[in-house]
Amino acid sequence: MNICMIGAGYVGLVTGTCLAESGNEVRCVDIDKRKISLLKKGKTPIYEPGLELLLARNIKEKRLIFASDLARSVKDSLIIFIAVGTPPRDDGSSDLSQVYDVARKIARAMNGYKIVVTKSTVPVGTAEEVRSIIAGETRHPFAVASNPEFLKEGAAIDDFMKPDRIILGVEDPHVEEVLNELYAPFVRTGNPVLTMNIRSAEMTKYAANAMLATRISFMNEMANLCEAAGADVNAVRAGIGSDPRIGPSFLFPGIGYGGSCFPKDVQAMIKTAEKHHHPLLILPSVEAVNRKQKGILAQKALKRFKGNLKGKIIALWGLSFKPNTDDMREAPSITIVNALLKQGATVRAYDPVAMPGARNAFGTKIQYGKDNYSILKDADALMLLTEWNEFRRPNFERMLLLMKTPVIFDGRNIYSPRKLKEMGFEYYGIGC
Ligand SMILES: NC(=O)c1ccc[n+]([C@@H]2O[C@H](COP(=O)([O-])OP(=O)(O)OC[C@H]3O[C@@H](n4cnc5c(N)ncnc54)[C@H](O)[C@@H]3O)[C@@H](O)[C@H]2O)c1
Repeated sequence: MNICMIGAGYVGLVTGTCLAESGNEVRCVDIDKRKISLLKKGKTPIYEPGLELLLARNIKEKRLIFASDLARSVKDSLIIFIAVGTPPRDDGSSDLSQVYDVARKIARAMNGYKIVVTKSTVPVGTAEEVRSIIAGETRHPFAVASNPEFLKEGAAIDDFMKPDRIILGVEDPHVEEVLNELYAPFVRTGNPVLTMNIRSAEMTKYAANAMLATRISFMNEMANLCEAAGADVNAVRAGIGSDPRIGPSFLFPGIGYGGSCFPKDVQAMIKTAEKHHHPLLILPSVEAVNRKQKGILAQKALKRFKGNLKGKIIALWGLSFKPNTDDMREAPSITIVNALLKQGATVRAYDPVAMPGARNAFGTKIQYGKDNYSILKDADALMLLTEWNEFRRPNFERMLLLMKTPVIFDGRNIYSPRKLKEMGFEYYGIGC
């Protein structure tokens, strides 16, 4: 099939590449010329394990083309995916200007029947708006559909190639057939393609992210209560996660959820509910708990250093919002760095792949290390912010020798409090 993917970001690039890998001809379009020029050379502008290899293969086989010319790419394609950003506005609602702008450009470029599919995460009713924008600009026949994306950064290729489920919001049997055919290679093991109306598909994506964010905030709240009440949240997590009605995923307490999806999608869901005169009660609390949780490590540090962080050297391991990605959007590290700097601490940081993003976020306000050990020299404390594999089993002896005071704030509960204490560290986890 001939596909046009508009937006070559975390979602569009992975989706476009994977669709090319299954034999389709894909044109990936982006307004960011620097991105397109990198991609044309087979270089990926984002860190995503496995992507570069697939990219190279599909460019070589000429199934994957990168372009800045949206009109040309639309003309050459039957299915047009919209995968542009839907960032939050100041009031938390979703800014759909990129989606609507692209809809207008698609309409003006149309030269025959097209299927326009929103892959971006968009509030209920957006596909209808896209339809009316296109209808206002063209006489060519077209259909709209919703196909929200559930890939996780850091495991995006695997998630796309072996999805738990595909959600299709369609209103037309022909479109359903075409999209089913497109996705058939990815669901050969029998994972479901769930077809529903467009509004339900749009809502499913938000409901999924809202549920996952709720689990995280619930567990963070439990962790703080465990700490206050003398219980160990790690034990409690194992205890409840083994109940099949609850399950073990998304129950790890930490320093709050971040990234480009959960924070903005929870806020957008709250705004959508207000718009429909059905204010939500749970999600504003989920958000409030998360905001508080992002500040928890700085508070622990302040308490440990008796309310004075002036001149203290704090080393940070990990800056991206989760491991295996360079994405710094809404990362808890941003809140933590700002809180530490405000208290007069000297911040040194290391992340295996997010250093360029960190430099954009923090500039010269913090120091950057070339590896995780170098930033520990004479440090008053270490904060583990992102649970990259390489931080899981470090050389603790070496750390003891390097640090001025062996204090560890473990924001992801990846270390054994007992072992660390036995070795001579002061250990502070989340809820334990
Ligand atoms: N990142 C994720 O893990 C993830 C997962 C599921 C869904 N989503 C959703 O997918 C959408 C895209 O997210 P992302 O993380 O890929 O964003 P992103 O910012 O990485 O990518 C968006 C891309 O769209 C491009 N763009 C903007 N306007 C354009 C235009 N007029 N023409 C062509 N290109 C244009 C931008 O230059 C950018 O490269 C969002 O709605 C997001 O909520 C993201």
